[in-house]
Amino acid sequence: MLRTHTCGELRLSDANKTVTLCGWVQKSRDKGGMIWIDLRDRYGLTQLMAEEGSTAAHIIAQARSLGREFVIKAEGVVLERVSKNDKMPTGDVEVKITQLEVLNSAKLPPFLIEDDTDGGDELRMKYRYLDLRRAPVRKNLQLRHKMAQQTRTYLDNQDFIEVETPVLIKSTPEGARDFVVPSRMNPGEFYALPQSPQTFKQLLMVSGFDRYYQIVKCFRDEDLRADRQPEFTQIDCEMSFVTQEDILNMFEGLVRHLFKTVKNMDLAAVPRMTYAEAMQRYGSDKPDVRFGMEFSYLKNQAPPAPREGANYELPSGGLGAFDEAELVVGICAKGCAEYTRKQMDELTEWVRRPQVGAKGLIYVRYNADGSLKSSVDKFYSEQDLQNWAGCFGAQPGDLMLIMAGPADKTRKQLNELRLEMGNRLGLRQPDHYEALWVLDFPLLEYGEAEQRWFAMHHPFTSPKPEDIALLDTNPGAVRANAYDMVINGTEVGGGSVRIFQKPLQSRMFELLGFTAEEAQNQFGFLLNAFEYGAPPHAGIAFGFDRLCSLFGGADSIRDFIAFPKNNSGRDVMIDSPSTIDQKQMDELKIKTVL
Ligand code: AMO
Repeated sequence: MLRTHTCGELRLSDANKTVTLCGWVQKSRDKGGMIWIDLRDRYGLTQLMAEEGSTAAHIIAQARSLGREFVIKAEGVVLERVSKNDKMPTGDVEVKITQLEVLNSAKLPPFLIEDDTDGGDELRMKYRYLDLRRAPVRKNLQLRHKMAQQTRTYLDNQDFIEVETPVLIKSTPEGARDFVVPSRMNPGEFYALPQSPQTFKQLLMVSGFDRYYQIVKCFRDEDLRADRQPEFTQIDCEMSFVTQEDILNMFEGLVRHLFKTVKNMDLAAVPRMTYAEAMQRYGSDKPDVRFGMEFSYLKNQAPPAPREGANYELPSGGLGAFDEAELVVGICAKGCAEYTRKQMDELTEWVRRPQVGAKGLIYVRYNADGSLKSSVDKFYSEQDLQNWAGCFGAQPGDLMLIMAGPADKTRKQLNELRLEMGNRLGLRQPDHYEALWVLDFPLLEYGEAEQRWFAMHHPFTSPKPEDIALLDTNPGAVRANAYDMVINGTEVGGGSVRIFQKPLQSRMFELLGFTAEEAQNQFGFLLNAFEYGAPPHAGIAFGFDRLCSLFGGADSIRDFIAFPKNNSGRDVMIDSPSTIDQKQMDELKIKTVL
């Protein structure tokens, strides 16, 4: 080893030792004959020091010539610092340099490599290897490592076997778009990169593996957001001879184990909510249940039916937006009655942004003196507003925010507003975690544009046995044995009990618009396998990047991925995707068409 210690290691108890450190020069200061250098490595920072008069002149000269990010090796003696820095673990000591060697020089980096950097996103991505030197980013990856380790420990203790599945597979029309790879040996044919190992893990169950997992890269060519990357990682799991209940318990256990071992937190029992209830109460299938602000309905003419006693019959007041609406629904923002006109206008503009797309926002102030003031006073009496306050459970001092329109759209928009109000009121603290299982998703959703049914989770998900008869009469009402785990409003994982009988799987493909021949072409391998003794099975996959960013208290998954893509799906560091040369194109028998 070139070094005796790391840059995060030395303490007062090491005083007077002669040590050798290696690392990068974070910065140096030169004042009144004293030179200080902050030396950085993966483990931390240590202050080096040289002093005119007591340090050899050639070392002083060398120390003065060091630039930011030079890689150096320094030998010296550990001394107690005169002015200590209690913010650094090594802040009690400094190393007085006796020998200095420049292992490599460095160009001036394009941004500050410190905890707070002046580098913008694109620049940091372009020089990601430099960004990764910064402690906050490095810590994210260390957290990720720990989470992967603990995932393996838990699943290994539960007898799961990690099996690798192929990356060059077959394109299928369901799900997101595939990334495809041309085959040189089979001109005109393409592999696809897996969106998930779904069918392979099911085949492993047919093979009798019983408990499978894999921490695995998945690829989806879809529009990107803060919590989506074109290549991302799943903790992918499957079990045989289990019920939904077994899966929920096993994987609640995994998440609990991760909270305990990684964050030293005890996760409370994970409550369960049906999809219908989540949509009704929060307008979202991934509600953030850290705060209340549940939906209150002034008018509800759309399924799912409201909870007992939660409905109120809105009288017609001559306000078109209400009278013609399928849904008039709102939330109660506690203590916000004093919002000024300006704040209300700003909030109205906020919901009108294309990202939310609402036509407008109606409000009722429940003033501290008990009076009520609304933006629809022309249409509704004080008594009406009193009734609304009763329906909302509002108290003096609260503000009721109301939206009206078609059911699905309005719920979605109010969900956005609810989350925004949660943010503004500081009700969504990243270090407060609440997990939730959302159950009983619809099996199918109708694609208006395509005029056909789509699997809401995927085509291998089992309908609830008691709903199977509805497949013929009312497919939209069929519920699936499918579940998502939601933490703080993020869908961190999802799975289902699978179909394992060929006739039901064939029926499912038929419902999704496949001819028997197409089903055989696309998924014949699975249908055939089901004829050779497929056990009942079920599984789940967690979005590993999302779990890591949640544990790290961040919104974006990018900083938990060593080399992520930007929002256009580009790796700006290696400049990919890129064109390939004509020779490669010829070998692949691909013609350039632009
Ligand atoms: P699903 O499609 O729900 O299920 O994916 C499982 C989890 O993966 C995460 N995820 C993503 N993370 C980052 N970027 C993306 N583009 C992205 N897409 C999904 C989410 C999600 O909950 N085979 C099934 C699982 C099963 O049925 O067992 C599947 O892939 O956190």
